Amino acid sequence: MSLLFGLSIVCGLMLHDGVSALNTHYCVPRKTVPFQNDLMLFREKDIFNYSTILMRDDLGVLLVGAREAIYALDIDNISVRKSVVYWRVPKEKQTECTYKGKLAEVECRNYIRTLHRVNATTMYVCGTNAFSPTCDYMTFVNGTLQLQQRQDEGKGKCPFDPFQRYSSLMVGNDLYSATSINFLGSEPVVLRSSNLALRTEFRSSWLSEPDFVYMDLVDESSDSPDGDDDKVYLFFSEKAMEFDLYSKVAVSRVARVCKGDMGGQRTLQRKWTSFLKASLDCSLSEPSLPPIVQDVFLLKHQDWRKSIFYAVFTQSALSQVSAVCAYSVQSISDLFSEGKFKTPVTVETSHVKWVMYTGEVPVPRPGACINNVARKMGMNRSLDLPDKTLQFIRDRPLMDEPVRPLTGGPLLVKRGALLTRIVVDSVLALDGQSYAVMFIGDDNGYVQKAVNYDGEMFIIEEVQLWENPVPIIALRLSSSKGWLYAGSELGAIQMPVSNCSRHDTCMDCIVARDPYCAWDLSTRQCSSVHSSRPSPDSIQSLKEADVTRCPQPDPVAAVDLTLVPQNNIQLPCQLHSNLARVHWRFSEQTLHSDHKYYIYDGGLLVLSASEADAGEYVCDSVEQINGRTYNRTVAVYRLQLYFGPTARAGTTPSSGVTNSTGSAHGATTAAPGPSPTTHSGDPLPPETRSDGGKITGLEVAVALLSLLCLVLIGAVLWRWKCLTFLQRSGENEGKRQSGDYKHIQYRSPEKKLTGPHSGRPCSANNNHTTVDFKGNGEHHFPPVINISTLNGLGYIKEESAI
Ligand SMILES: *[C@@H]1O[C@H](CO)[C@@H](O)[C@H](O)[C@H]1NC(C)=O
Ligand SMILES: *[C@@H]1O[C@H](CO)[C@@H](O)[C@H](O)[C@H]1NC(C)=O
Ligand SMILES: *[C@@H]1O[C@H](CO)[C@@H](O)[C@H](O)[C@H]1NC(C)=O
Ligand SMILES: *[C@@H]1O[C@H](CO)[C@@H](O)[C@H](O)[C@H]1NC(C)=O
Ligand SMILES: *[C@@H]1O[C@H](CO)[C@@H](O)[C@H](O)[C@H]1NC(C)=O
Ligand SMILES: *[C@@H]1O[C@H](CO)[C@@H](O)[C@H](O)[C@H]1NC(C)=O
Ligand SMILES: *[C@@H]1O[C@H](CO)[C@@H](O)[C@H](O)[C@H]1NC(C)=O
Ligand SMILES: *[C@@H]1O[C@H](CO)[C@@H](O)[C@H](O)[C@H]1NC(C)=O
Repeated sequence: MSLLFGLSIVCGLMLHDGVSALNTHYCVPRKTVPFQNDLMLFREKDIFNYSTILMRDDLGVLLVGAREAIYALDIDNISVRKSVVYWRVPKEKQTECTYKGKLAEVECRNYIRTLHRVNATTMYVCGTNAFSPTCDYMTFVNGTLQLQQRQDEGKGKCPFDPFQRYSSLMVGNDLYSATSINFLGSEPVVLRSSNLALRTEFRSSWLSEPDFVYMDLVDESSDSPDGDDDKVYLFFSEKAMEFDLYSKVAVSRVARVCKGDMGGQRTLQRKWTSFLKASLDCSLSEPSLPPIVQDVFLLKHQDWRKSIFYAVFTQSALSQVSAVCAYSVQSISDLFSEGKFKTPVTVETSHVKWVMYTGEVPVPRPGACINNVARKMGMNRSLDLPDKTLQFIRDRPLMDEPVRPLTGGPLLVKRGALLTRIVVDSVLALDGQSYAVMFIGDDNGYVQKAVNYDGEMFIIEEVQLWENPVPIIALRLSSSKGWLYAGSELGAIQMPVSNCSRHDTCMDCIVARDPYCAWDLSTRQCSSVHSSRPSPDSIQSLKEADVTRCPQPDPVAAVDLTLVPQNNIQLPCQLHSNLARVHWRFSEQTLHSDHKYYIYDGGLLVLSASEADAGEYVCDSVEQINGRTYNRTVAVYRLQLYFGPTARAGTTPSSGVTNSTGSAHGATTAAPGPSPTTHSGDPLPPETRSDGGKITGLEVAVALLSLLCLVLIGAVLWRWKCLTFLQRSGENEGKRQSGDYKHIQYRSPEKKLTGPHSGRPCSANNNHTTVDFKGNGEHHFPPVINISTLNGLGYIKEESAI
């Protein structure tokens, strides 16, 4: 046991060392909140794929579309189901679907995909319906959901294939949808279903194997000096036509159409005359393929020019990297209304290259909505547009320049689990400024809560919503209620946007830099800025994390422990932040991991203690934020020598942690006094204990040899990215210790011992050290030794003198 233990310690240490060096400039969440059972959850047995969410504040319900079911849940507590309708696929239809080669139990089911508000009582809902998409109206009256059985055609409004991405939007009575219109999924359209239906041309220059992601309306007609129209923006990725490469690479795009578009008279009849698209730039600092857009959120402002699109990108081919970029609506709008076009030119005989168009652009400008310029020319509708304008746009829908992010680069870059969905809240902080707080779901069931403070990327925390690593496939925010709703294969979950009570000291509250939270000096609590009017005694320091107004913390009470020579002694110490490193002192000497001490995630292990080890041990947490050091004592232990006569017997007193009741500092309540007789926590009779007390010279030698070997294997595995299977293996610990959820359980401490600085989470220039990547990523590497092993030490240490 001790051999294995020693081996895993050293091996874990070395491997993790190498791993973390690779992850230095990727954001690490400051806190990790492991899965807890206290979040409000909705799931029904045998129902899966809770992928579609519609908030109806006006009705007090959250509508959730799953596979073959639609639920109306109480918007304040989604565990309360108000009503449900089941929409199953008839047997004949399912059989028909299987004849076409689809899987009965997977694809030949009805996945609810579209859920929109129509009016006060009515919703529009579509499902894949065994590869024959169908829509219907649904009412919510007297607390009951009811389908109207209208069996509307769903082709073009909802995908056939439940695994295909799509997007849709209801504007008035018009449904805008972006999906595939045929069974094979090979004919993509952007469609408006209305009295005057419009769609895109079937041309690869318009859409080339697209994955549709998001749509939203921007009311650009309001206060428009040009008499402009409202526009529907669409985000998607597609195969690039403009790159001169052998294989077509995917690129991210934004496109838009005008709400008032009616198509052309001869050219572009019943087709969009205003379909324009541009590339979305979100460049990572490292060379990579272009990241691909996965989800977008429009943070609306009263003045549409100040509205901002937040987009999540991922690049999973070579590196598991995700990024968030923000784009101002104004800049996208300007690019479409003033930018240059790309045009195809044929080089050699058949090869087509796309280059900037330098010729004359017809008037009215191709792709523009009907505005004052057109009206002055007597054109009141798109039907009046001249063929010259229409032909131009039919052949050249792509803009030459890409849309650049608002801040020049990403707001956030994260390696590890891929980000999937985003919502953004605008939070008014105590300094009177509004901060955009991003909530980003990932494919491991976590939500990252992040802010960008003047260019500094900062992940306040990551919250584990699902115990199993399932992707978050839907995310909605109720800013007014302060709730976040997330959907996954397994259910829907409701999470508060903040829980300030997690921060129990002033320093922790301030250093958390959460715009939702402030420290109230009078009540001595970290409380929400919004729940009540903040008292004048509230303090918050988001950009600087200035704690000078915090009162001096109470000194940490020392815990007395008994030292029995030859025992291993475990001294727990849990830090409050993933970015802090631990610093142990003994008799004013700094301790380092060596043959005598092992400093691990949750504390210190004094191996084979001797008389000289009696004395005071202090555990400090040292955190660096913007060059400032935050140093505070987390735990103090006083080890006193035991002189009793029975030290060698099986009933030796515990000098460490048989009583794991977890005090406020995560420290273990230990045997209260020096007398062995006061102790009663002996867990196992001596015979049943494993032989683990002493590490002999031979064992160390074997351990070191095996270690070399393991490190080599580890390095190779790492290279080949085979370490994924280790991911999350520490999950249970999080659950077990839910009382201490502020702390990461399986964080490796080694870096913190060796590195001179503590973690700056995202700065690109600290190219060495400090940040331990942990968090829920692909690259997350749980130390080989886990807490349960350590708890095993509960009896190792009692082994004592042999
Ligand atoms: C639906 O959920 C099941 C069960 O979790 C999963 O296996 C399947 O991939 C999901 N299907 C879709 C279309 O998301
Ligand atoms: C939510 O509803 C469930 C089911 O009725 C109930 O058990 C739970 O206590 C409620 N939670 C809250 C916070 O009201
Ligand atoms: C809501 O819309 C539905 C479908 O268009 C219509 O039948 C119904 O009368 C409308 N109800 C109200 C209250 O407007
Ligand atoms: C709703 O309830 C009211 C009063 O109980 C009843 O008059 C009405 O018919 C109900 N409506 C529906 C659609 O069931
Ligand atoms: C366009 O609208 C203006 C004012 O509404 C009208 O005077 C003009 O005749 C219209 N032109 C056409 C071509 O319909
Ligand atoms: C906030 O955190 C506290 C302290 O851990 C916990 O007891 C409480 O349930 C949490 N509140 C919510 C709404 O999750
Ligand atoms: C933290 O503070 C303590 C006491 O003020 C001091 O002894 C210790 O050296 C400090 N640690 C670091 C790493 O600065
Ligand atoms: C230690 O555990 C024993 C039984 O498990 C209990 O009686 C005793 O009170 C505990 N001591 C402390 C200090 O928690």
